[in-house]
Amino acid sequence: MAVPRSEYLSNVWADGIFANRVLFITGGAGSICSAQTRALVHLGANACIIGRSVEKTEAAAKQIALVRPGSKVIGIGGVDVRNFDLLKAAADRCVSELGAIDYVIAGAAGNFIAPISSLSPNAFKTVIDIDTLGTYNTIKATIPHLVASAKGNPRSPSRFLSISATFHYTGMPLQAHVSAAKAAVDSLMGSLALEYGPLGVTANSLAPGAIAGTEGMQRLASSELTAEESAAGIPSGRWGTVRDIADATVFLMSDAGGYVNGTTMVVDGAGWRRQGGV
Ligand code: HXC
Repeated sequence: MAVPRSEYLSNVWADGIFANRVLFITGGAGSICSAQTRALVHLGANACIIGRSVEKTEAAAKQIALVRPGSKVIGIGGVDVRNFDLLKAAADRCVSELGAIDYVIAGAAGNFIAPISSLSPNAFKTVIDIDTLGTYNTIKATIPHLVASAKGNPRSPSRFLSISATFHYTGMPLQAHVSAAKAAVDSLMGSLALEYGPLGVTANSLAPGAIAGTEGMQRLASSELTAEESAAGIPSGRWGTVRDIADATVFLMSDAGGYVNGTTMVVDGAGWRRQGGV
């Protein structure tokens, strides 16, 4: 059964705004990225989902395709973003089966809770490799296709969007590895915007806050606080939803977001402003 629209998309967007456009997304079977993919597919896009697990990735593709009859959603499993050759082959397959890559979301991420005292050099490197090198590999594998898409659609820039975080704005205990990795991801988006803006590609980060029901929150949420207690610390008074992230993504990918470039959109109810305990 298809997931109800109200769970991944507000009613304000017009059907068909992404007709004939193609999304390539890493980590697309995860809770946040699958909502982003559902939203874009619902509004007309076709999509190629990349993941490490073959089973999970193919199942997610089938499930997401249900949101719009006639949509094409391919799941390519067995692809670790740390392996550039596998990613490049996946991008090439996306273009040969769906015709183009117009939008990219680099959403694959690795995370676990660990203080620096128990973080081995290899554990630190693993998260840097998945988040930072993985984003770089995704850029390298898809950027020629994004440039080609922009040439064919001069009024509508193609898009590269990374999923970031807010931890590095203040520093974050138990998340030194992720904070460092996401700071580098934001930096990469700036360089990408400067080098490829003139070629018609926008590059931004989207930084979610505490998003209910996600694997990230299951890993990160403090077991000492109830959901209500921890939501009370967020200025907007609630945890975010995957729909909040999907709606922001739709804006950034749509023609309305075409002049947003080289920046980070934080979607966190102003939570990061208190994350240092202020
Ligand atoms: C300390 C740990 C650890 C832990 C692994 N390591 N888990 N160290 N505490 N809990 C260490 C290992 O001991 C090893 O170091 C090194 O990390 C690599 O571990 P592997 O298991 O070999 O790595 P790998 O199989 O590649 O798995 C990567 C992973 C794993 C990140 C460790 O958790 C994973 O595959 N995660 C993918 C899914 C995921 O994390 N999703 C969450 C995304 S949520 P040694 O020294 O022993 O060799 C998210 C939210 C961000 O990102 C926040 C947003 C607000």
